[in-house]
Amino acid sequence: MAYETLIVDIKDHIALIRLNRPDALNALNSTMMAELAKALTEADRNEKVRAIVLTGSDKAFAAGADIKEMSDKGFVDMFEADFFTPETEAMLRVRKPIIAAVSGYALGGGCELAMICDFIIASDTAKFGQPEINLGVVAGIGGTQRLTRFVGKSKAMDMHLTGRFMDAEEAERSGLVSRVVPVKKLLDTAMEAADKIAEKSQVTVKVVKEAVNRSYETTLREGLLFERRVFHMLFNTEDQKEGMAAFLEKREAQFRDR
Ligand code: CAA
Repeated sequence: MAYETLIVDIKDHIALIRLNRPDALNALNSTMMAELAKALTEADRNEKVRAIVLTGSDKAFAAGADIKEMSDKGFVDMFEADFFTPETEAMLRVRKPIIAAVSGYALGGGCELAMICDFIIASDTAKFGQPEINLGVVAGIGGTQRLTRFVGKSKAMDMHLTGRFMDAEEAERSGLVSRVVPVKKLLDTAMEAADKIAEKSQVTVKVVKEAVNRSYETTLREGLLFERRVFHMLFNTEDQKEGMAAFLEKREAQFRDR
């Protein structure tokens, strides 16, 4: 399906979703957020798709929520619209892995969108920031909570209170991104990572995503119990038998997602 603000390509088993508002540095307006929630939900439902890559342009992943669209709103407008909550909730319901491939600016809602994905691969030109304080507001789609969990309180406070940007090297050092690659290799690297994931048992992939996300959402004791239960549970799958037999027989596993 055609979108106004996105370009969506299904390549083999990978859904590649590109944010596409170049004139506004991919600022997230309500159309783009609605389309993104729809495209991600469709990719999640598409049986052919086994992993998703979300990217922007070399210059900007996304420079934040669209300031032009928001500037005249009042409290009741934002409250009644529940600004971007239904869209981000839909993204969080996606069970397939989403890799953010970030180049250039990932600011405000752009940084928050990258953090909603399952992991971030950055180009060496990436710049992350939560500059909402310069606009007289605070991050609104998870930035105060997620950035703090990624990089710790001190750096998160620094980013949110000063509005400064973090370069790719600092983002990798502080745990915000999983790897940094030259800008020309960004998309290939993200697609290769998605390909690797696509080779695995998709039952196991979804369980891994659920289990790692538990570490953000519950206590250590509850998270460990969840991990133990899903670990035990996977011994009831054909793919566990195949994976372990393949190792012992010194061959590649042929997973059937069963
Ligand atoms: N919203 C709307 N338009 C934006 C935008 C945004 N967040 N960011 C950039 N643009 C637009 C600019 O207005 C400009 O459009 P025009 O040509 O029509 O004037 C175009 O994109 C190019 O931008 P610049 O000319 O500013 O480009 P630059 O290279 O000089 O600077 C930048 C780049 C540093 C990213 C700068 O554009 C910038 O600071 N943008 C705003 C970043 C920001 O404050 N983001 C947070 C938004 S609030 C938010 O996200 C809340 C939330 O948590 C949900």
